[in-house]
Amino acid sequence: MTAETLEFTKVTPYCGAEVRGIDLSQPLDARTVETLQTALAEHCVLFFRGQEMTPAQHKALGGHFGELHIHPAWPRVVEGHPEVMEIFTDENSKGIAGEDWHSDVSCDAEPPLGTILQMIEVPPVGGDTLFASMYAAFESLSEPMQRFLQGLTAEHDGEHVYSGRYQGVNEERRTYPRSEHPVVRTHPVSGRHALFVNRIFTTRIVELEKHESDGVLRMLYEHIERPEFQCRFQWQPGSVAFWDNRCAQHHAMWDYHPNRRRGLRVTIQGDAPVYRP
Ligand code: SIN
Repeated sequence: MTAETLEFTKVTPYCGAEVRGIDLSQPLDARTVETLQTALAEHCVLFFRGQEMTPAQHKALGGHFGELHIHPAWPRVVEGHPEVMEIFTDENSKGIAGEDWHSDVSCDAEPPLGTILQMIEVPPVGGDTLFASMYAAFESLSEPMQRFLQGLTAEHDGEHVYSGRYQGVNEERRTYPRSEHPVVRTHPVSGRHALFVNRIFTTRIVELEKHESDGVLRMLYEHIERPEFQCRFQWQPGSVAFWDNRCAQHHAMWDYHPNRRRGLRVTIQGDAPVYRP
């Protein structure tokens, strides 16, 4: 299996592509990895069907794209594989991970480059994940607004997200990441600009007064969530989504309680976000 067998079909004009002609459980050659890296940076999220990976194969897949990330707070991992997070919901769940628009762990100083989620068990209906292109969100702003945002920095905090959230986690002397990142970041592969603030982690724009920061963030969150920037993925057992946290946000839909949903997630370490004019 090589780069030549890969086929990409766009899901919507701005976001997402379905990929055919690949078995993700097998080692990838350098050209295939490069083709996927370029496609990921272009489409923001890649979707695959009919895949089956053991935790070791899932980690090997992620390892083609960078070092694997260990989550700062998530308590549920596959035994012997701390890099493989289990995403699990059933009738006892009070909430789910990522139930609001966000980019994964953006509170980290070097937030994840990308995330590969393999779905094992799906509810009879529902449990989709929505994705949105942050290139499209940035590029559709007026030029004065783009110029205003390009000089700004935002704080992203994990404390209010993770503290006290997970049962059985000892919070004593535990700290969570907090970082400052440019509001607009330059994607290291595509060179395009993407908005990089999100509802879950971003707490304020550092250079603005609180009321100004609150107003600008509210406007940006509403803008980011415009449906034309989005695509929506309906999972089946064996579906895999590989999203690029540098140019996409996602939102997990929790409309299937009390049904079960189970997936396994590997996250790839990224770089500190930068803005290049
Ligand atoms: C996440 O944010 O990683 C969860 C995505 C999902 O469960 O669809």
